[in-house]
Amino acid sequence: MSALSVKHLLGIKGLTTEDIELIFTTADEFKQIINRPMKKVPSLRDVTIANAFFENSTRTRLSFELAEKRLSADVINFSSSGSSVSKGETLLDTVNNLIAMKVDMIVMRHQHPGAAYFLSEHVDATIINAGDGTHEHPTQALLDAYSMREKHGSLKGLKVAIIGDILHSRVALSNIFCLNKLGAEVMVCGPATLIPRHIDSLGVKVEYSVEKALAWCDVANVLRIQMERQQGGYFPSLREYNISYGVTMERLNKVSTPITIMHPGPINRGVEIDSDVADSEHSIILDQVQNGVATRMAVLYLLASGTEA
Ligand code: CP
Repeated sequence: MSALSVKHLLGIKGLTTEDIELIFTTADEFKQIINRPMKKVPSLRDVTIANAFFENSTRTRLSFELAEKRLSADVINFSSSGSSVSKGETLLDTVNNLIAMKVDMIVMRHQHPGAAYFLSEHVDATIINAGDGTHEHPTQALLDAYSMREKHGSLKGLKVAIIGDILHSRVALSNIFCLNKLGAEVMVCGPATLIPRHIDSLGVKVEYSVEKALAWCDVANVLRIQMERQQGGYFPSLREYNISYGVTMERLNKVSTPITIMHPGPINRGVEIDSDVADSEHSIILDQVQNGVATRMAVLYLLASGTEA
């Protein structure tokens, strides 16, 4: 297989296992390229891409922009703050204006679940979901799984615990879909208030003890406590969250074999993860960031190349 089965990247749910494997083998090649002195290739020289961010981002926006530039695409960046969105312009009008300027692909982050799917139904451009509310963040899951594959080889049978605010996390949902497709065993862990009901129907184990989750897993993917979405009183205080659920060195020292530590960022140091853990020799957090560029290059390149005949 040399082409994706999808025209847009809206979520991991819509990808086949073969799509994911193709993205990984393509990313392997791009990773070699971006680590050599001449980091650019002309693959997307005639392609124009708009990065439309209606919600804040550091890693995803910069990683996409770098990936696009490494592929020689023309790039424009749009962020809703300081734009005519504040004057009441709709999402569709905003994006149709970008397309009128001959944009071919839109990378979009939006606060509303389904926003990327909505666009894909209404505009004539390739859409890549860079995070839509609490729904999906497909390129984060791809770079996470790619980083686990790099560290551990095959994901088949790998035990991955996703620890933290599962309820509000698009990263958790995309990771669950991706890891299930690749044959990993997945556990979610956090306070009961931050774990959606019936999440076990997605084929994951549920654990409320962080000690037990750490004792079970090969990889701990620690998720951020989403400060901006904590109006529901889900736990008493950040300090109490750290005491009960924080991934701390004290907890890791009680585990017999070393665990690979991951975090999609941004990190709340001293809340969901302590600094000495985030910066430890078993942390691959910055490898995740590095792999994000190669993985996104692969996604952009494959989507620009078209779907299977
Ligand atoms: N991991 C992630 O999506 O980070 P940003 O919000 O900084 O893009």
